[in-house]
Amino acid sequence: MTGKKLIVANWKMHKTFGATEEFINNFVSLYKVNIFSKQVEVVFAPSYHLINFLKNFITNLPFKISAQDCSSFSENEGAFTGDISAAMLKDAGCDYVIVGHSERKKYHKETNQQIRQKILNALKLNLKVILCVGENLQEREENKYKDVLLQVLDECLSDQITEDVVIAYEPVWAIGTGKAATLDQIKEMHEFLYESCSARFAKKLKIIYGGSVNLDNAKQILQIDKVSGLLVGGASLNPDGFYNLVKMVEG
Ligand code: PGA
Repeated sequence: MTGKKLIVANWKMHKTFGATEEFINNFVSLYKVNIFSKQVEVVFAPSYHLINFLKNFITNLPFKISAQDCSSFSENEGAFTGDISAAMLKDAGCDYVIVGHSERKKYHKETNQQIRQKILNALKLNLKVILCVGENLQEREENKYKDVLLQVLDECLSDQITEDVVIAYEPVWAIGTGKAATLDQIKEMHEFLYESCSARFAKKLKIIYGGSVNLDNAKQILQIDKVSGLLVGGASLNPDGFYNLVKMVEG
């Protein structure tokens, strides 16, 4: 797979201002060795309150920022208590937004129709979208996992999806469990997603993998054809660990 690999640190509901400052100072001091070049794009996805704070820290560094969600109701503003719009995220310094994460579906009952609207809102503001898709354990065991993903893609993506949408294949059973999908499973699903989506995408399509990515498996996963990057949760929280993961991918 050619092009830069995307490594996204999904911090979920972790880190205070103090912890973020400590993380970035450590990460940057390691990073100064300047080994990161054309191979990798590192994206941090902190919780909302940290977005602008983090952005100011990394102004002169080649990192990007992603939000973990955005409102489906309006791309701008309105009476939607607790929501945050794509325009606000852009204003705060985001380049990307994650949508459709399985934790949003599980705890907030998000539907594919809402996710579709979130994607449209984000694209209107020129935010890149990381759309998470993945089957649960029962769907895998019942051998329905491909059908499930096709349905999600159909319901979430409009026909004119651009290169600004990255697909993240995240099997639900692999998230936060320490049990990543096997290399064969990842290969099968990335090829399947590539085939299923390529008609919708004019040129390049990035499909990244997420679910218990760590130092031991990151490099091998990234060597699989059609894997364009990684969505990393737990293993992105510690600066040394995350630095080593990125460095390994680079090297
Ligand atoms: P994990 O999380 O790496 O901790 O499994 C990945 C994700 O939820 O994006």
